[in-house]
Amino acid sequence: MSTQQKLLIAIIFALLTCVPLGAIALNDLGRVFGAVSPDERTAMEQRALAYQGRAIETGAELYARHCIKCHGARGEGVPQFAPALSRKDLFDGRRAQEVRWNGGVESLLKNAIAAGRPAQSRPDLYSARMPTFSRDYGGALSASQIDALVAFALNWQANATEVNAWSAIPVPTRAPGAVTQPGTPAAGLARICQSLSAPYAGRKSPYKFDDKTILAQGKQIFDDKCAACHGAVGAGNGPAAAALNPKPANLADKNFMQALPVDCHFFVIAEGVRGTAMPPWKALGDDALWKVLIYTRAWTGVP
Ligand code: HEC
Ligand code: HEC
Repeated sequence: MSTQQKLLIAIIFALLTCVPLGAIALNDLGRVFGAVSPDERTAMEQRALAYQGRAIETGAELYARHCIKCHGARGEGVPQFAPALSRKDLFDGRRAQEVRWNGGVESLLKNAIAAGRPAQSRPDLYSARMPTFSRDYGGALSASQIDALVAFALNWQANATEVNAWSAIPVPTRAPGAVTQPGTPAAGLARICQSLSAPYAGRKSPYKFDDKTILAQGKQIFDDKCAACHGAVGAGNGPAAAALNPKPANLADKNFMQALPVDCHFFVIAEGVRGTAMPPWKALGDDALWKVLIYTRAWTGVP
């Protein structure tokens, strides 16, 4: 090949390379000058989208490797272990507001993933710990990998569902200074009983209500844990009751028990009544709670 031929080929190649660049430039310029309709995507934008698409893909791979075991394949969370992420409140700013985060949704996600949550927000709700992922904080991932995870998570926004990941079931609470009506359950309890939610709604006793062994075991628990306040036969007049305001409930009162369906009764014993001396007893375990419930309901015979 002669030098001239080589030169010619080089020029042709150079020109060919210019064609796509020229097309991109023309397209972008075209929009500037009104030749391309404004809602047509310019090549630059298409590239940006493709780039974003790749980030989402990378994010999906990283998510599968690092996050699924705690947050679930579709960000649905693992009950009692780690919260759902595919949640409306996480993307529409409510969660940011709740935790007083000033930087907006994207930076909230980024910060949670990069820095993790060394202190658990609600150990009563979730037992896992959110690990630190960014190298800046001693984790294993680069800044662009964190960005890819954020891009991937933001993808859930469109189909995020209303999930109550952070506020626990409402616990019966007495407003301070509220007048105690003897023979009525805690203020607001009737409403809570009506709309009782998981894991309490519809709970049924594993034991028969006339099982003598269970009644005897229930009596032991009551005498040991409850009688000091509620009195030996549940009338609400135990030795510790005099000092209490509001007074312990009269569990031997038929009207009172009728207002307290079994599942709601179990709920009250398990969670206690905030704002009163009635403590939560769930640490005793479900079995003990059912036994003491059966024993106390036997006084009135209300099923
Ligand atoms: C070992 C379990 C575990 C792993 C692995 C894990 N997380 Fe978490 N994550 C949690 C827990 C628990 C929380 C709640 C932290 C708290 O107490 O505030 C959480 C919180 C979050 C939050 C904040 C949610 C909110 O409502 O405030 C985001 C976002 C998040 N994780 C994303 C991720 C991503 C992305 C990954 C993977 C790179 C990941 N997590 C890996 C357990 C985990
Ligand atoms: C330190 C005192 C104290 C002890 C111990 C105690 N309670 Fe209570 N309990 C109360 C008080 C006070 C109330 C009234 C709460 C209110 O006014 O809403 C109450 C209310 C109740 C109620 C009805 C909820 C309501 O709305 O009033 C039940 C059921 C109950 N207690 C069961 C038990 C059982 C079962 C135990 C033992 C495992 C127990 N309590 C131990 C103080 C106590």
